[in-house]
Amino acid sequence: MDSGDTAQRSLEHWSESGLREMEEFYVLATEDYRQLALAADWAALLGERAHQGWSLLDVACGSGKFPTALVRFTAVASLPDVAYDLLDPSAFSVATARAALAPPFMPRNDLVMPLQELPSSCGPYDVVWATHALYALPPDELDVAMARFASALAPEGLGVVAQATGRSHYLSFYDAYRAGVRDATPFTTAELVAASLRTAGMDVREQVITYETGTSDRDVAEGFLQRCAFDDTVSLEEMEAAPVLGEYLASCRRPDGSYVFSHEVALLWM
Ligand SMILES: C[S@@+](CC[C@H](N)C(=O)[O-])C[C@H]1O[C@@H](n2cnc3c(N)ncnc32)[C@H](O)[C@@H]1O
Repeated sequence: MDSGDTAQRSLEHWSESGLREMEEFYVLATEDYRQLALAADWAALLGERAHQGWSLLDVACGSGKFPTALVRFTAVASLPDVAYDLLDPSAFSVATARAALAPPFMPRNDLVMPLQELPSSCGPYDVVWATHALYALPPDELDVAMARFASALAPEGLGVVAQATGRSHYLSFYDAYRAGVRDATPFTTAELVAASLRTAGMDVREQVITYETGTSDRDVAEGFLQRCAFDDTVSLEEMEAAPVLGEYLASCRRPDGSYVFSHEVALLWM
């Protein structure tokens, strides 16, 4: 197996051609970011770091759903403007996130690269965050990536990673997909990220949140699950009929046929 397979399919799907699948994914996954926005007093936490000329690095900025949720569900708009650097190996993601930003988040540098390649000349930042960002980062490259995360953060800065645990839908689903549909490099879990950050010398405090997302619309379920596996060649019917994956999906299905997915997400505070 090519250890870059999961990372490569991630890159191919976070692209213009993956737009339909991405929009169906976010019918459900927008809730991930509302949950994060409600999990902490972000205006106070960021306000403690705010000063003239402060800066923030969004690692794996994706579509900018997290800053969008913060502006929508919290009082961060009252904070002073912050210079917001966007990092992602997908140029499509960087452009999408840049277009989504609203005050106080003022787009500055586009860093089109994986976290593992962030140059040491970038930073230090007052805030560095990575939200639902590191699943496709190959586990054997995690220590290099987390060392880059740690060194980009200013000594008194705020670092936070929000990542699903090994028990959560994203990880359980991908493990079942790997077992039942095609072998691939596993996703990186919150547990692995926490251990790697500690190896990099970070003092990490863990907060766990749990919630459910669901739909009775099979088209939405199909698009969401295809994005969860970065594979739009397999239909929902094929996933339901596949060994292992079919059993996992049956465990998520209610008697009326609707799907409910269980999430457990660790917020790793530094
Ligand atoms: C689910 S999205 C992140 C969502 C984002 N936090 C938001 O607020 O919308 C995952 C992103 O991780 C990016 N990614 C994958 N591997 C990466 C790596 N090694 N370093 C940085 N970003 C990576 C993908 O290109 C994708 O844009």
